[in-house]
Amino acid sequence: MRVGFLSLGVCLPKRIMANDEWSRYVDTSDEWIRERTGIERRRIAGPEEGTATLAEGAARAALDDASLQAADLEEIILATDTPEVYSPDTAAIVQHGLGCREIPTYDLAGSGCAGFLQGVDIACSRVRTGRRNVLVIGVEVISRIMSWQDRNTCVLFGDAAAAAIVGPVNGAGEVLAVVAGTEGGKAGILGKEIGGTRRPFGPEHVASGEYNRLIMNGREVYKEAVTRMTAAAREVLDRAGKRVEDVTLFVPHQANLRILHSVAEHLQLPLERVYINVQDYGNTGSASVPLALWEARAKGRVRPGDLVLLTAFGAGFHWAAALIQY
Ligand SMILES: CC(C)(COP(=O)(O)OP(=O)(O)OC[C@H]1O[C@@H](n2cnc3c(N)ncnc32)[C@H](O)[C@@H]1OP(=O)(O)O)[C@@H](O)C(=O)NCCC(=O)NCCS
Repeated sequence: MRVGFLSLGVCLPKRIMANDEWSRYVDTSDEWIRERTGIERRRIAGPEEGTATLAEGAARAALDDASLQAADLEEIILATDTPEVYSPDTAAIVQHGLGCREIPTYDLAGSGCAGFLQGVDIACSRVRTGRRNVLVIGVEVISRIMSWQDRNTCVLFGDAAAAAIVGPVNGAGEVLAVVAGTEGGKAGILGKEIGGTRRPFGPEHVASGEYNRLIMNGREVYKEAVTRMTAAAREVLDRAGKRVEDVTLFVPHQANLRILHSVAEHLQLPLERVYINVQDYGNTGSASVPLALWEARAKGRVRPGDLVLLTAFGAGFHWAAALIQY
């Protein structure tokens, strides 16, 4: 059976925040952010927008794109590090919001920026065992849970939701191969600790300003990102019996322009074949890969017959890659 993407959908917060605005909150500049990250602006969720509403918006767009109804969905996998509420998971809230049947739903919580592709990996195997129309959503509203006083992290991220429906396909959109992996020994280089059972949230964390701090060893993350995304890309190509030269478009996780350039260089992929939109959205976590793929398709960068390589890395340390034949 051929399994692949039946459709894509995106939902973006209305508010666009340019780099300059960050200098109101922290000691930074547009120049620093552009030079070190390539980011120029990002979306920030407003009071009416949240993880569940953005996820639902992306899901509805993906349903429209596939000419399907909510009742046609058979499972929902939602990847996020910024859930609507602590418990239950956001997928349950989205299921109700969409008006689905009582289908199974679950979050890949804390899956970081690799969460969407991990979800695609699971969805493909679920479709192979009989499910149809599995909705996979990547969504983050990180602006609401991060510190706006920590310049090391706050300038990097943006809010967004993007979704795909995975199901049986007749050729176009087929997932030829997908790979995923985790190195849990690197869990400490990127994440958010306060609020878990190891360090339950308390008033002392508000006093110390730690309560919303993201832990990030930027240089270590950078090195791991380049190594792991390059290796995952090579592995998925090998598994599908394809070569780098066969790839028409490379759509990596949009974390940082320098990381993207470095991965492309390691793979010896010319930049004309790399899709880049980090300048407009920043790092949108698990929404990043499906958002970039959706935008590339909307701009006519994905045509019938194209071989599209997706890869991502994130907190965990998780990585994943998928190869799509359009
Ligand atoms: C975070 C990152 C952009 C920093 O770039 P870098 O070139 O490694 O910068 P450095 O770590 O050398 O820091 C340089 C200086 O800039 C400062 N700095 C950090 N953020 C800043 C900001 N927003 N504005 C101005 N200065 C900043 C640092 O404090 C440091 O100052 P110091 O030398 O006085 O201590 C880069 O390491 C990176 O992109 N890492 C990966 C992060 C990532 O992708 N995370 C998400 C993964 S899903």
